[in-house]
Amino acid sequence: MNMPVDTSILPSLRSELATKSRDLFIDGKFLPAASGETFDVIDPATGAVFASVSSGGAEDIDLAVKAARRCFDTGAWSNETPAKRARTLTRLADLIEANASRIALTETLDNGMPLMMAFFGGVAAASEQLRYNAGWATKLNGETFTPSNPGEWHAFTTREPVGVVGAIVPWNFPFVMAVAKIAPALAAGCTIVLKPAEQTPLSAVILAELVAEAGFPDGAVNIVTGFGKTAGAALVDHPLVDKISFTGSTATGKSIVHACTGNLKRVTLELGGKSPVVIFGDADLSKAIPGSAMGIFGNAGQVCAAGSRLFVHESVREQVMAGLADFARNLKVGPGLAPDSQMGPLVSQTQFDRVAGYIDSAAQEGATIATGGKALAVADSAGGYFIEPTVLTDTRPGMKAVEEEIFGPVLCAQSFGDDDLEAVAAAANNSAYGLSSAIWTRDMSNGLKLAKRIRAGMVRINGGMGGPDPAMPLGGFKQSGWGRENGRNGIEAYTEIKSVTINL
Ligand code: NAI
Ligand code: MG
Repeated sequence: MNMPVDTSILPSLRSELATKSRDLFIDGKFLPAASGETFDVIDPATGAVFASVSSGGAEDIDLAVKAARRCFDTGAWSNETPAKRARTLTRLADLIEANASRIALTETLDNGMPLMMAFFGGVAAASEQLRYNAGWATKLNGETFTPSNPGEWHAFTTREPVGVVGAIVPWNFPFVMAVAKIAPALAAGCTIVLKPAEQTPLSAVILAELVAEAGFPDGAVNIVTGFGKTAGAALVDHPLVDKISFTGSTATGKSIVHACTGNLKRVTLELGGKSPVVIFGDADLSKAIPGSAMGIFGNAGQVCAAGSRLFVHESVREQVMAGLADFARNLKVGPGLAPDSQMGPLVSQTQFDRVAGYIDSAAQEGATIATGGKALAVADSAGGYFIEPTVLTDTRPGMKAVEEEIFGPVLCAQSFGDDDLEAVAAAANNSAYGLSSAIWTRDMSNGLKLAKRIRAGMVRINGGMGGPDPAMPLGGFKQSGWGRENGRNGIEAYTEIKSVTINL
């Protein structure tokens, strides 16, 4: 496939990023943090600082929330016609596409992901999110009812925007996650304060510039870069925020639930996963092997829905394990900017240490490192947080690496001999999480029976390319979260229902 990104702009982009710290975007204006503080932005392919951004704190969050509140309460956005809201969102999608190269290159510099992924999984997916949700703006309606009380009635419901939304996003797909939160919120008529992750703040700053150009009223979208414990916590605590939409770790998700009790904010959580992948004996291994490999090595395993626990039928175990090992050894690991890289570095030193720690603990608990397991030195990219794609065998329930989300390119493999679906389902469901799952089989009846038994928000049978579809609900059972994003459910989560009853 031809590289869709114009890399000739990289030198000017780099020098622009090096010259000036990026501002916060509050009430339609770009401002430094009230404290004047900034923080460094690191390229995970080299470990080097290449930019800086304003470090927003409680005072900046307060300004941003008040601007969002004002915009909401005056109706400048919430009472705008649905058609006008749709047009503005579509204009933002057009601007994102027109700036695709700048956004994709920035995302790769900041997060480390391969440039093709930054383009297709980031920029292109973000503009699809906006176009999809723009379509909903004109279609969010209530229902009419026939009450059973004595008398004659006209009764109906309306769907109204929930109000001011605080959106907190992680670092693994920074741009598309930011857009996937603002798109449905804005389509529904909400106003928003977005807090990007401190590891990857830069693409959100470009988003702010494009929002400023697209013609939203001041205060409809505010973007405050900063740390979780300061800016994030202040947003979650703020009494003028009506809803928090969060994507990130289960631990932080739980602390957000507690913090939201103050004014009983609505909360949507898309949290961690430990998703099972089941390969039956009849599976098409030419698809199941690369599909399962990229399901855990894609974006260096830093994917909430990554297939991290493999269950392979005994009859194909050797073939699958050999195939995965081959795939892992041949995978081109390198800086995201190198055109042939298929897997980039981990996002940070912290994440590298966390992933390496899980591999060590698995080995100590008796797992076998079948492939990978070590830091990887990449030529011309010293200082980068590269780790080998890793497959662990002899893993069992109870091991830390099997129970917890690793968020790195580490697959825990187990096999099953039993054809009893209930036993396979029980093994797959033996997790505190329930985000996603994958099934590989040619027997669709078997595949659908297992799909029904899996306790997870998403099931993919026989793989297929591509990330989440904006039309398909995304979210988890159990400790993988609350509520769903995407689709009708995703946008309805940014609304309140009002019942209106009229005695005629
Ligand atoms: P995190 O959940 O702490 O961070 C995600 C976002 O929450 C960031 O924007 C951060 O600034 C913000 N945040 C942190 N503490 C906060 C607080 N008290 N109040 C409000 N906002 C807060 O995740 P972290 O530390 O970056 O990564 C740790 C682990 O979390 C990873 O190893 C991975 O297992 C998991 N994770 C899961 C993600 C997913 O998509 N399911 C995404 C990122 C991390
Ligand atoms: Mg970074």
